[in-house]
Amino acid sequence: MKLRYKIINGFVAVLGLTAVALAATLSYTSECTPPPGVTAGADTMKAVVSRCYGGPDVLEYLDVERPHPGPNDVIVRVKAAAANPLDYHYMRGSPYLMRLSAGIGRPSDPRMGVDFAGVVVQVGDNVTRYAVGDAVFGARSGAFAEYVVIPEDRAIAAKPGNVGFDEAAAIPIAAVTALQALRDDGRLTAGEKVLINGASGGVGTYAVQIAKALGAEVHGVCSTRNVEIVRALGADHVFDYKNENYTESDNEYDLIVDMVGNHSLTANRRVLKPQGRMVLVGGPKGNWIAPFWGPLKAMMLSPFVDQDIGMMLASVTGDDLEYLAGLMADGRLTSKIDTHYPLSDTAEALRYLETHRARGKVIIAMDRVAD
Ligand SMILES: NC(=O)c1ccc[n+]([C@@H]2O[C@H](COP(=O)([O-])OP(=O)(O)OC[C@H]3O[C@@H](n4cnc5c(N)ncnc54)[C@H](OP(=O)(O)O)[C@@H]3O)[C@@H](O)[C@H]2O)c1
Repeated sequence: MKLRYKIINGFVAVLGLTAVALAATLSYTSECTPPPGVTAGADTMKAVVSRCYGGPDVLEYLDVERPHPGPNDVIVRVKAAAANPLDYHYMRGSPYLMRLSAGIGRPSDPRMGVDFAGVVVQVGDNVTRYAVGDAVFGARSGAFAEYVVIPEDRAIAAKPGNVGFDEAAAIPIAAVTALQALRDDGRLTAGEKVLINGASGGVGTYAVQIAKALGAEVHGVCSTRNVEIVRALGADHVFDYKNENYTESDNEYDLIVDMVGNHSLTANRRVLKPQGRMVLVGGPKGNWIAPFWGPLKAMMLSPFVDQDIGMMLASVTGDDLEYLAGLMADGRLTSKIDTHYPLSDTAEALRYLETHRARGKVIIAMDRVAD
């Protein structure tokens, strides 16, 4: 064999072995470690933690040390938290690629939950925006707990007085995702026509209302049992996907926001205007390539078509929370809540969310018994 071919073969073999080693490392799931002890005399709180990857049974409801504020932090007594698909992705460490940041083998941070609403009970020395007693909502790791700590300049905002804690807790990830998909990635303007696939879920129920608030004509897609819910949220037209396929309709959309990823790009492009936009928010589940396949195809297609198709990754900011608080305060945005679970039943809340049948948001309410 020529030296050139020997080098190429060697290179391919090394590449293959590296890929296999990387795949084995990423998919390796370590045993659960015993819970860390609590320092004698320390203040404690109840919290839900995950010290190894797996299904809802890996979640533990424990006494852990209460957080203390740094100079720029506020401590919030959590009244309600909300469950999101992000939480079960962290719980399972899936897709495996996310373990590069979440932790190889086991989670590097055992805290669970992100969305919260509650009351400020302590502030650091430099805090100026919030005071003890303020009602707030926001997004921060460790929200499935009685207390959460967050710097005052991060994803936190004042809760409008006319909005309950459960309704406010439901907002951060889901409503900010809907807002950024429509306004930023989707560049939706008044008078345009938007299709929202997955209109009855956590993100979708906000997307319908925000698209209406932005002045668009809104078409939503959901199953038969949720048609009235989506219509009541303000959709001008609702496709019942059990009986009709929106990609085979005569409509032409300026924007498609897709939370489900159950139709091919070719089918979606058929009902997208020639200069239309499509934002991929969610897609099929899977440990390896399935969740990335749609966005990869969109990336490869992009240079060859006028339509603008791409995935988005939301990032919760204080500014967007304030914008959404404004919509809630004047009644243009409400949270559609499906179920409440007490903190001790967070595993059940995530088990339910993983069925993909939630209608709106699933709430972890601190002082409640299960619905
Ligand atoms: N890119 C980002 O930054 C980002 C941020 C947040 C969420 N996400 C992703 O977005 C997706 C949606 O999140 P979510 O919080 O809305 O989830 P969710 O609340 O679990 O969504 C459940 C909803 O999905 C609907 N659904 C299931 N199959 C459907 C179908 N074939 N057609 C239309 N609707 C269908 C269900 O409606 P029916 O019962 O009526 O079928 C249900 O109401 C998830 O994949 C999540 O990971 C991405």
